[in-house]
Amino acid sequence: MSDATMTDAARASLPAPAPVWYPLVELARVTASAPLPVPVSLDGVPWAIVILDGKAAALYDVCPHRRVPLSAGRVTEGPGGDVLECGYHGWSYDRQGACARIPALGEGVVPRGMGSVAVLRTDVFAGVVWGTRSDVADFSPVADNVIALKEQPLQLSVARIDEVLGGEVDEYDTVRRGVDTHGRFSYAVRPIDAARSALFPLATADALADELSAWITRLSLLSESFPDTPLSASTERSRDAR
Ligand code: FES
Repeated sequence: MSDATMTDAARASLPAPAPVWYPLVELARVTASAPLPVPVSLDGVPWAIVILDGKAAALYDVCPHRRVPLSAGRVTEGPGGDVLECGYHGWSYDRQGACARIPALGEGVVPRGMGSVAVLRTDVFAGVVWGTRSDVADFSPVADNVIALKEQPLQLSVARIDEVLGGEVDEYDTVRRGVDTHGRFSYAVRPIDAARSALFPLATADALADELSAWITRLSLLSESFPDTPLSASTERSRDAR
């Protein structure tokens, strides 16, 4: 990973490289959007989520050329595989964040180290693309039989969600677990910024109907506690720190 092209402010606001997986976005949203990226914010830092060479990838959503969002570009075929091509002047980046093409210089001409962007290490669990900055997060944040329900963008901090739902974070600061009148439950949260979050309710496949019903009740509890909490995905992008 190269952070060389990021501003100090962006670099400082990145999550610490602890063995933490963050749920970024439902894989189905990324595949439906392809070849266009899905922009998400993680702790105020923008990322462009794409499918490159058949696998999810997360690239820092700022083109190092003129600092415009890479999420305004599209996935195209590069010299060595898929790349995310900037929509402005065509600089293109592979899944490691390395610049693979600068059209103005001609095909195959990229000065060494020029224009790379930071990336998150990504993987897919429970139908969700997760991201981490850690090289040692070699564990699955959820069990094989766990399914993520629909992502819920909320005008609430992670702390407020935990406060209302009563979830306690696991040892890896990744999945929250709690017990209420409906039984045991778990969820993961992506902090969009200090005041907003994307909640990913989790359920087990063999009790899906019951857990879905329980989550509907929990989400209404959040709405009652904090009216006007729902947040549309498009609103998330317009308020991202860029
Ligand atoms: S701004 Fe991205 S290639 Fe110029």
